[in-house]
Amino acid sequence: MKVTAQKGDFEKMPCDVLVLGMFENEENTFTRKADALLKNELGKALKNKEFSGEAGQIKIVSTLGTMAAHKVLFVGLGKKKDYNLEQLRRAASASFKAARETCARRVVTTLHLCDAKEILHERVVALTEGMVLGNYRFSQFKEERKKEKHVDEVIIVDGQKESIQRAEVIAAATMHVRDLVNMPPNIATPTYLADEALKLKMLGVKVTVYGKKELEKMRFNAMLSVAQGSAQEPKFVVMEYGKGKLYSFVGKGITFDSGGLDIKPPKMMEDMKYDMAGAATVMGIMEVVATLKLPVHIVCAFPTCENMPSGTSYRPSDVITAYNGKTIEMMNTDAEGRMILSDALAYIEKEYKPDVMIDLATLTGACIIALGYWATGMLSNDDQLCEELVTAGNETYERVWRLPLWEEYKENMKSDVADVRSIGKGFDAGTIEGAVFLQHFVDKVKWVHLDIAGTAWFNADKYYFSRGGTGAGVRLLVKWLENRV
Ligand code: BES
Ligand code: ZN
Ligand code: ZN
Repeated sequence: MKVTAQKGDFEKMPCDVLVLGMFENEENTFTRKADALLKNELGKALKNKEFSGEAGQIKIVSTLGTMAAHKVLFVGLGKKKDYNLEQLRRAASASFKAARETCARRVVTTLHLCDAKEILHERVVALTEGMVLGNYRFSQFKEERKKEKHVDEVIIVDGQKESIQRAEVIAAATMHVRDLVNMPPNIATPTYLADEALKLKMLGVKVTVYGKKELEKMRFNAMLSVAQGSAQEPKFVVMEYGKGKLYSFVGKGITFDSGGLDIKPPKMMEDMKYDMAGAATVMGIMEVVATLKLPVHIVCAFPTCENMPSGTSYRPSDVITAYNGKTIEMMNTDAEGRMILSDALAYIEKEYKPDVMIDLATLTGACIIALGYWATGMLSNDDQLCEELVTAGNETYERVWRLPLWEEYKENMKSDVADVRSIGKGFDAGTIEGAVFLQHFVDKVKWVHLDIAGTAWFNADKYYFSRGGTGAGVRLLVKWLENRV
């Protein structure tokens, strides 16, 4: 789908569907102008309460030749006082999908012109993001995809080209992340993810892939202990781009989490192909940075393997010496994410000495219990970084919520036989305990752990998300990087 900008009067632009927005019970210059041409069709709908401008409401009117468009689609923007860029993204997605349903091939939209609170550039970005992300479907394995409706072109009236291009790059990377997350685990293996990372070389990214032999030499024992139950070869991937102050991102890449010997019940295992969302997200961040040639130096890395039960699996009570020399009493094979991250975090800090290290992981079910699906859990050793991420989260609506990492939480992670236990001793504060464990593998670097268990995957279509991977984290961290430079 092509998204373009065009200057001119909306009523003169030929298209199948023209999209106009309206705040609740509040007509504007666009709706008035259109209504006059439509012989009061909107006015009638408002009067008989068929349409009021409530958020997400849709009213489609045929123009019968009174305008260059075939149809006008009015979309409700909700109450003006509640309106923000996220409402714009949602209205963009809702109106786009409704237009697509009418078999429209060419759509003209003016939604970004409805409110002047945010700067125009931000509104054009949000509008484009909402439409492109709302258009996402994961249908490559379905015969029915051939019957899907497609919009060929969207024209943004008085839009800015640069804003559209920027939004398209970010949305494309987000959709790549969604594709990787949605891809079935028999296809999206550790080797597949490593091959995907190698494709970033085309953008000038330096990519290094370490296989089992190298990881043995590097003493990635915690990671290898998880991988030893699987027939899939583990991979550790490091991608680097740019020069200067170094920011690093590390993603959990479990391509399937069966739980291992501590096997998950069927309902809990169903969606566990998304346990590599952290890895996919760091690839997405790299894709955006390298495509837009942002002036930053970043390292994105991910350990990737499968967590399976077998005769060669690691066992609860195994003691394992991690990359940084600390011994781990591994007490639950389903707490595998922290095992693979422990080696990766210690390695990246030691070998690259980044100024900041941020990890993304679908680490704990407890995070969903605590925060649900609308906030990423954030744990950190640095207050200022947290503030910056809260800001970037509010700006992108990929919001984060900080949980504490207080001394007292360390008690439960003490082991009788090793330096640290891999899990706590009760059913309390699972997300915090996961982070406490990771902190044993972080030395001096400013570090943030983002638990995306709740935000990386949605169980149903909602706004500009469709059931499955969300791509959460890409927009958040690109925004944070941009705010920094
Ligand atoms: N991948 C899971 C966490 C998860 C659960 C993510 C549900 C998304 C949805 C992780 O590896 C795991 O199984 N964690 C355990 C930790 C426990 C054994 C300490 C959990 O959350 O139960
Ligand atoms: Zn697990
Ligand atoms: Zn897991």
